[in-house]
Amino acid sequence: MTPREEVLTTPLADPIEVAEEVTLRPRRLAEFIGQPALKEHLGIVLEAARRRGQPADHLLFAGPPGLGKTTMAGIVAAEMGVGLRITSGPALVRAGDLAAILTDLHEGDVLFIDEIHRLGKAVEEILYPAMEDFKLDIVLGKGPAARSIRLDLPAFTLVGATTRTGLITSPLRDRFGFVTRLDHYPVDDLEEIVVRAARILGVSLEQAGAREIARRSRGTPRIANRLLKRVRDFAEVKGDGIVSEAVAHDGLTLFGVDEAGLDKVDRSILSAVCERFGGGPVGLSTLAVAVGEETDTVEDVYEPYLLQLGMLQRTPRGRVAMPAAWTHLGLAAPVRVAPSTGLFD
Ligand SMILES: Nc1ncnc2c1ncn2[C@@H]1O[C@H](COP(=O)(O)OP(=O)(O)O)[C@@H](O)[C@H]1O
Ligand SMILES: [Mg+2]
Repeated sequence: MTPREEVLTTPLADPIEVAEEVTLRPRRLAEFIGQPALKEHLGIVLEAARRRGQPADHLLFAGPPGLGKTTMAGIVAAEMGVGLRITSGPALVRAGDLAAILTDLHEGDVLFIDEIHRLGKAVEEILYPAMEDFKLDIVLGKGPAARSIRLDLPAFTLVGATTRTGLITSPLRDRFGFVTRLDHYPVDDLEEIVVRAARILGVSLEQAGAREIARRSRGTPRIANRLLKRVRDFAEVKGDGIVSEAVAHDGLTLFGVDEAGLDKVDRSILSAVCERFGGGPVGLSTLAVAVGEETDTVEDVYEPYLLQLGMLQRTPRGRVAMPAAWTHLGLAAPVRVAPSTGLFD
């Protein structure tokens, strides 16, 4: 894949980038930039638990990838001064996988389950009594002779992360004491995130360069950090190593990130809706096939930002391109764009 075609929203594959992401992760609540309401509420929850000398309530973080859910799990453990165990929904295949982790926890630990909406039913059922009463129910033997015993677990805090709260079953959601959504970040916060990352990575960055990167990061800290690194490479090879506004602009353009911060996949989604499907409505799965992505990826990774920019709209009959999408693609919008607030919205 040439750099021009790099898709910025895909998960990190390069081990160096993964290591750098860990380095860039804020470790304490005070280092976490933006999301002021979340920080304040969480600060109170953690402080109250500390004063009672108890583990914090179970916490659920929802939101698109790259907004800081994993970072928050680490922060909760650090602020509480306890250990952190990390696993994910898809990694917990059998009930025994979760039981093994639960029995191995220390008093007060944070257990982070990423992609918690992908837990299997049998595993999820183990979690209910564990969350509620710190008990583990295990069944010994099979058939009529089977009997179940209850084991005590250490008190712990479960931190769950999900890209969509709608995918969590309500019995699971109800067992979290604190459910919150992370939103896309405003440009000012992203600018601060870019400046912080540049300081940690030792990149020479001008304020206007930081602003340009922030503006094009589709509201996402992970993307802001990645764009900074790509622009740093560009500055080293094509310039004097200093990330100025002009260098950031030219570098990002070269890497296929446009003025609105959209990448190749974003643009192909928009042009599929506008050009192939006449502005929509087009069903999500049809759209996903048209752009060669998984339905979930389109819905969780790409759509939220296009909706936020007002380029796309969800209607009961499918996705519809809004005038901003046509303008962005340099196309003339049809005279009547599909209805936006119909009876069925
Ligand atoms: N509020 C923030 N302040 C500073 N950096 C952040 C913030 N949120 C996320 N990041 C950066 O973005 C990267 C991705 O965050 P992460 O917690 O892995 O996102 P998620 O788990 O939601 O996909 C982290 O490495 C971190 O450097
Ligand atoms: Mg994560």
